Amino acid sequence: MKLGILVLAAGKGKRMRSRIPKVLHPLAGKPLLAHVLDTAQALGAARVGVVYGHGGELVPRQMADYDCIWVEQAEQRGTGHAVMQAMPHMQDMARILVLYGDVPLMRPTTLRRLMETAAATDLGVLTAVLEDPTGYGRIVRDASGRVVRSVEQQDARLDELRIGEVNTGFLIADRARLDDWLARIGNRNAQGEYYLTDIMALAVRTGVEIATSQPETLDEVYGVNDRVQLAVLERSLQRRRAEALMRGGVTLADPARLDIRGRLQAGEDVSIDVNVVIEGDVRLAAGVAIGPNCLLRDCTLGPGTQVFANCVIEGAAVGAGARIGPFSRLRPEAVLADDVHVGNFVELKKAQVGEGSKVNHLTYVGDAQIGRDVNVGAGTITCNYDGAYKHLTVIGDDAFIGSNASLVAPVEIGAGATVGAGSVVSHTAPAGKLTLTRAKQATLEHWQRPRKQGPGSG
Ligand code: UD1
Ligand code: CA
Repeated sequence: MKLGILVLAAGKGKRMRSRIPKVLHPLAGKPLLAHVLDTAQALGAARVGVVYGHGGELVPRQMADYDCIWVEQAEQRGTGHAVMQAMPHMQDMARILVLYGDVPLMRPTTLRRLMETAAATDLGVLTAVLEDPTGYGRIVRDASGRVVRSVEQQDARLDELRIGEVNTGFLIADRARLDDWLARIGNRNAQGEYYLTDIMALAVRTGVEIATSQPETLDEVYGVNDRVQLAVLERSLQRRRAEALMRGGVTLADPARLDIRGRLQAGEDVSIDVNVVIEGDVRLAAGVAIGPNCLLRDCTLGPGTQVFANCVIEGAAVGAGARIGPFSRLRPEAVLADDVHVGNFVELKKAQVGEGSKVNHLTYVGDAQIGRDVNVGAGTITCNYDGAYKHLTVIGDDAFIGSNASLVAPVEIGAGATVGAGSVVSHTAPAGKLTLTRAKQATLEHWQRPRKQGPGSG
């Protein structure tokens, strides 16, 4: 059975008050429409058609990674009109499922259930019972409980407005039947629009029984019309993700203060303190502890590694049992072996740090290979950039770099070498020896500090 999915995304989104088309606004770091297209993909559609309008080519251009057919609806003349525009591209499909570009939290399981419920008939609609149904189309049933039609808020009679069961808009229909019904809908209604919902009455008239099912949770059917609703759905999605993590064995200090704007894989007994932001692909092995106020983007941390408060870790790989922070910054291609310690105000970029090495205070290490059990003293700088090119610093195992050393790359510090504090090292420091560059200390016995003279003294 070939499933075609149509995503309606042509709405203006005026209430967003934005230059960006509504469906491109990010939810959990990803455009609203991308959430919907991921859902379509999860359902294994044979074809996905997206009806777009407002914002023009910006929408298809930004979604270029997705394999779908883009259908422009230049003038928004209603949901039925939108579906009509796309139907010519769906002629070899058996069934059509309609989704919405601004309703991002719909679960694939809910849609699968809708499709199963409607398997034996030609039309299935997803409905929901809302405490306040204002604004939604209402589902009108007959005395025996069969759906007879759907009526929009603007067209409803008083008794119909009291109906709590609403049309969510999501529906599955037989493709040929849908073509048929669409050809017969008009726009003589309060909004002068071609309503997709009118196919319900037409279906009933052609003897088709309408199947209905409901979502697991109500957030699945909520749409985004303004930035307030966007924020509500953001919290809703983050809550879902936080709960999934906690169920998977992760301790969260506060599930409301974690933001996952990408994918997080976390092992057993990972713990995450408040105000942590996850972006891209992040993998935390068992027992990792993340302190408060950290940003982790595209990184992996090995078992038992601890990250203390206020760290920014991006594009880095850290081994087991490491201690990072507080206030450390690991930049792309920082590769830290097991038991490495990185302390406050330390920045590492494109640097390998061997097992057990320590870089604890106020240091920049860029373009470097550091061996095992090295101690990099406070204030050490790898001078990796000459204004045109980057150069490598190599530090052997067990070396000791005194505080405030400048290592002018390309340069090599041998295994077991010691570099004296304050040295500017621009040539190889031989293994096992003390190397230092330092002006001799002198004391001037007769020197006097200048003093300000009193008034009138000259
Ligand atoms: C629609 C339903 C209503 C339902 C509600 C659920 C109709 C007539 N009404 O109402 O029964 O309760 O959704 O949220 O279908 N769109 C287009 N092109 C258009 C018009 C709309 O692409 O010409 C898209 C919009 O971008 C939006 C969706 O269709 O994603 C729904 O349109 P909207 O105007 O918000 O429908 P409602 O009036 O809310
Ligand atoms: Ca409308």
